[in-house]
Amino acid sequence: MEDKGIGPDAFKDLMSAVASTVTVVTAYADGEPIGITVTAFNSVSVDPPIVLVCIDKVAASLDAFLTADGFTVNILPSTASAVSTLFATKDSERFDAVAWSDPSVGAAGPVLDVAFGAFECETIERLEMGDHWVLFGQVGVGGLTDKATLPLVYHQRAYASVTDWTPDA
Ligand SMILES: Cc1cc2nc3c(=O)[nH]c(=O)nc-3n(C[C@H](O)[C@H](O)[C@H](O)COP(=O)(O)O)c2cc1C
Repeated sequence: MEDKGIGPDAFKDLMSAVASTVTVVTAYADGEPIGITVTAFNSVSVDPPIVLVCIDKVAASLDAFLTADGFTVNILPSTASAVSTLFATKDSERFDAVAWSDPSVGAAGPVLDVAFGAFECETIERLEMGDHWVLFGQVGVGGLTDKATLPLVYHQRAYASVTDWTPDA
């Protein structure tokens, strides 16, 4: 039998040891806000500024994300684990339960009030990869509300926060 490497459970166990910042990725589908909790987010390029997010094929909102002209990556603070759970819960009324506003970049998704940073993106590439789709976004507008807020972290399938850190003077 062909060796296909480690199995899915071992792969997921290994990935669970990679601590990640929790984000909520949002977009508009026919004018309606959509959003899901995502840790598969990373920077790709600085000049031009490009980021990527990976969306599972089982996500109900996948087609809407693929159709949208752009998306916003909202970075959650350590106090927002309930928001992460909300945006990871099937059939939840996500945008009735949180405060949000329209982005500055027309193609991007809603900006959550709770987020302490947001990347407003125009989708420039969509790549089918295994059981996920990868969306590449060129960042039009991005900003932090402050540099001292600590992020919500996901590690070993549980929420965590950074404790041993102080901002640069
Ligand atoms: C901490 C955490 C991280 C997640 N990361 C991702 C991710 O990177 N990509 C993804 O597609 N789903 C991820 N999910 C799962 C989605 O948030 C979840 O399936 C969501 O409910 C999909 O919504 P939908 O099916 O209504 O579109 C994550 C969930 C949690 C709790």
